Amino acid sequence: MSDAIEVTVESGVQAIRLNRPEKKNAITSAMYAAMADAIKTGWSDDGVKATLFLGTPGAFSSGNDIADFMQVAMSGERGSMAVFDFLEAIIMSKKPLVAGVDGLAIGVGVTMLMHCDHVLASDRSRFKTPFVDLGLVPEAGSSLLAPKLMGHHKAFELLAMGEEWTAADAREAGFVNRVTSEDVLEAEAVAVAWEIAAKPPEAMKLSRDLIRGDRSDILARMREEAEIFGERLKSGEAKSAFMAFMAKGQKKAG
Ligand code: COA
Repeated sequence: MSDAIEVTVESGVQAIRLNRPEKKNAITSAMYAAMADAIKTGWSDDGVKATLFLGTPGAFSSGNDIADFMQVAMSGERGSMAVFDFLEAIIMSKKPLVAGVDGLAIGVGVTMLMHCDHVLASDRSRFKTPFVDLGLVPEAGSSLLAPKLMGHHKAFELLAMGEEWTAADAREAGFVNRVTSEDVLEAEAVAVAWEIAAKPPEAMKLSRDLIRGDRSDILARMREEAEIFGERLKSGEAKSAFMAFMAKGQKKAG
């Protein structure tokens, strides 16, 4: 279990909070494992009707921990599989997923939103997937989901060009439902999750399954991306990008 993931259940809503503000909620393997575990526990708990993802003020998530990426890049090892457990859990999630985003959403902090059923974002939120700048490729099935959701040109802008989007841009692209001010974001996200949790659960499950449809193509694409991603982590392009990021931190400390 990771202390940086807090899980609470209230009124049928399982809230999973990324709580590592000193690293802008960068996600480590232990955090992925804790989230996957919580989500799957929720599947068999009748008291959980919906899962809500939250971050901390100003940071939803800065994406995968780059120190973890660096470790895989330099050791040549395969790395932890926890991220895939987490991605599989959100792709195949049996309960509705809601997210409340306030502030930074980077990398998987963006792509995970494409698997949610309802997303709220504060107007100061910023969305960015710098995969190519890091020498990497899109993940979490986003290379399949994003073009379907927003069309090729927008998906290319986000996933390949790594453009930074505002909450309004993300709403227009279709993976944010509503934009609020930061002071009410969390209360409104909780209210939406409670609203979903209060509905008849069987009818909700059947309706959601129909709306989401068969997810096997998304799962297959996630695995295909993961193969390429794993290779790319060890590429020269990725290593130099990770080293540049780590050097920035050392310069700040020195
Ligand atoms: N992995 C590991 N550490 C991260 C991180 C990440 N993804 N994002 C931020 N951090 C750490 C920083 O190294 C810094 O640590 P330090 O205080 O020990 O030096 C701390 O979080 C605060 O980040 P900092 O860069 O000082 O804050 P900022 O407000 O200037 O910038 C970001 C915030 C998120 C824009 C910037 O940190 C960033 O670009 N992070 C990398 C995002 C990324 O590429 N993620 C991977 C996507 S696939």
